[in-house]
Amino acid sequence: MIRPLTQADATEVASLIRVAFATLSAPVSPPPSALLETAGTIASIFAQGGGGAAAERDGRIVGTCIWQQKNGGLYVGRLSVAISARGQGIARALLAAAETEARRRGLPKLLLSTRLVLTDNRHLFASFGFTEVATHAHPGFTEPTFVDLEKPLCENDILRKKR
Ligand SMILES: CC(C)(COP(=O)(O)OP(=O)(O)OC[C@H]1O[C@@H](n2cnc3c(N)ncnc32)[C@H](O)[C@@H]1OP(=O)(O)O)[C@@H](O)C(=O)NCCC(=O)NCCS
Repeated sequence: MIRPLTQADATEVASLIRVAFATLSAPVSPPPSALLETAGTIASIFAQGGGGAAAERDGRIVGTCIWQQKNGGLYVGRLSVAISARGQGIARALLAAAETEARRRGLPKLLLSTRLVLTDNRHLFASFGFTEVATHAHPGFTEPTFVDLEKPLCENDILRKKR
C-alpha cells in the first residue's frame, strides 16, 4: 500500500532512509548526507511544505520518498526501499506517487539527483521517463559526482496552454 507520509512516520522513515543509503549498490564519495537523516530533519521538511510517500506492508514502512517544491518542480529525494523488499516495484510505485503529487500541485516537472556511480539507479530513473540534464561536483571534488534529472509532465503543459 502506498500512502502519504505523516509527521508520525518521521522516526521510522529516518531510520529506513539511513539503512537504505548505507546499502547503496556502489560505494560513493563523499558519503551520502542521507546517512544523517533524523526524525527532526524529516519534520523540518514537513514544516517547509514538503511531504512524501510511504510504502507499507504488514504495518511496517518498507519504502519511502520525500518531496519538496523546488526550482519550478517537485524535487523527489531520499528514495529508499528496505533491503528485503527490493526488486518488487516499490521504488517505481513511490515515483508514481510523487508524479501524482506533482500533477496535483500543477507542477510541470519532477526533479531528482543521483550519484553518477549508481548506474542501476540511473537506469531505473531513465526507464521512468527522467532525462539527465546536468552534472555537478561536490565541494572539494574536481570531477562530477552527481547528476540532476528531470521528468517533464506534459499533461500539465497542455492544461496550462489551454488556460
Ligand atoms: C534504488 C532503490 C530505491 C530501488 O528500489 P526497488 O523497489 O528495488 O526498485 P524497483 O523494484 O521499483 O525496481 C525498479 C527497476 O530497477 C530494477 N531493479 C531493482 N532492483 C534491482 C537489482 N537489484 N538489480 C538490477 N535491477 C534492479 C527493476 O528490475 C526495475 O526495472 P524495471 O521496472 O525496468 O523492471 C533501492 O534499491 C534502494 O533503496 N537503494 C538504496 C538507496 C538508493 O540508492 N536510493 C536512490 C538514491 S538516488
